[in-house]
Amino acid sequence: MDKIIVEGGRRLSGEVGISGAKNAALPILISALLCDGETHLSNVPHLRDIVSTIQLIEKLGVKVQRAGDEVRIDASGLCCYEAPYDLVRKMRASVLVLGPLVARMQKARVSLPGGCAIGARPINLHLRGLERMGARVDLKHGYVEASAKRLRGAEVYFDLVTVTGTENLMMAAVLADGTTVLRNAAREPEVVALAETLNQMGADIRGAGGSEITIRGVNGLRPARVRIIPDRIETGSFMTAACLTGGDVTLTGCEPAHVTAVAHKLRLSGACIDFKDDRIRVQGAPEIASVDVKTLPYPGFPTDMQAQFMVLMSVARGLSMISETIFENRFIHVSELRRMGADITISGNTALVNGTDHLSGAPVMATDLRASASLVLAGLVAEGITEINRVYHLDRGYEAMEKKFEKLGAAIRRVPV
Ligand code: EPU
Repeated sequence: MDKIIVEGGRRLSGEVGISGAKNAALPILISALLCDGETHLSNVPHLRDIVSTIQLIEKLGVKVQRAGDEVRIDASGLCCYEAPYDLVRKMRASVLVLGPLVARMQKARVSLPGGCAIGARPINLHLRGLERMGARVDLKHGYVEASAKRLRGAEVYFDLVTVTGTENLMMAAVLADGTTVLRNAAREPEVVALAETLNQMGADIRGAGGSEITIRGVNGLRPARVRIIPDRIETGSFMTAACLTGGDVTLTGCEPAHVTAVAHKLRLSGACIDFKDDRIRVQGAPEIASVDVKTLPYPGFPTDMQAQFMVLMSVARGLSMISETIFENRFIHVSELRRMGADITISGNTALVNGTDHLSGAPVMATDLRASASLVLAGLVAEGITEINRVYHLDRGYEAMEKKFEKLGAAIRRVPV
């Protein structure tokens, strides 16, 4: 597996483009299962998770063509209703086929995803919602088997805010008989992007972006043409990197409205941030102030930015408190950051970060995407060489991260192993 080698200490400056959002592209690719004809997507990022999703829908009988950042999907040949263990194991978001398959094929057989590095991550709320809509759901041999002649509209309340749960049920409900109301729904921009795609396909969804989403079932959908929204987590990661190195970086092709919480915290740490249309200029402060952070569902501070922000706080002046409220085990990066000289103590779901003058480069690795990204960021400011192993995770969710940092002046390279 490739490694990334970073020599720390370079100030980042210049311009870099932000790619399409992984977590918007995944459900939108899968939404193409809901109709016959050619769905056309652009600004699709080159990521391992996108490749896995394409493999999954091809296995279901769907034709996919990819050229550059464009993907054409034709689900006229949809003939299979099973998402096998091998694919779900690689990428949990595969469970998003459940809703569309039951809606379109009257049944689905999807491997039950296990826990992953960041937590147990059950899908009970997806399943309970499908049952509310009249599906019969059984768990057999590690698989979820769900079936319904035609799903019917229902009122669904989520005990917890779940992003893919909201997306799965929204896709199940578009072809249902009657109206579905999702309460305590996720408000993430990726949910809104999916709702807009489905509406373009002829669905009738109102309220996405709020906590109550109403979906009136329709009898059929048609293909859509969609541009994937910018990746707000990639944006936040590069904004944080600019602050870490006291740099002056302009990000292009972004959606500033989606990074409000992150920008707010970075400003409190001393950075100067300007939004102009789809551009964000970040000027890091010479000295970083400590700031407390608590992860929350959108529009709160994203859990997917917690690890990267912790690196910034590791070299800030003073003490900060970082609380993780979404996943129960999302401090995997802490032990690696400690090996680089960070002073972090964990108590329950809170990390106490005591800022130090400098981190020192070390060989590190992580078993989660955002944790891996945080180690690259740490490498950018650490003294000496940091070697990030198992780049597999990074490639799942960041498009050419090392090339983008190199363009901004970092001493970083990928070494095939
Ligand atoms: N949960 C349940 N039951 C369910 C569903 C969720 O208990 O049926 C719990 C989870 O265990 C977790 C919380 O609810 O504690 C929230 O999980 P959610 O379902 O919102 O997470 P997800 O949909 O599986 C998406 C993103 C994640 C991101 C989270 C939170 C995609 C494909 N994945 O996951 O992204 O961290 O929302 O914002 O959209 C990443 O990109 O690195 C990543 C992990």
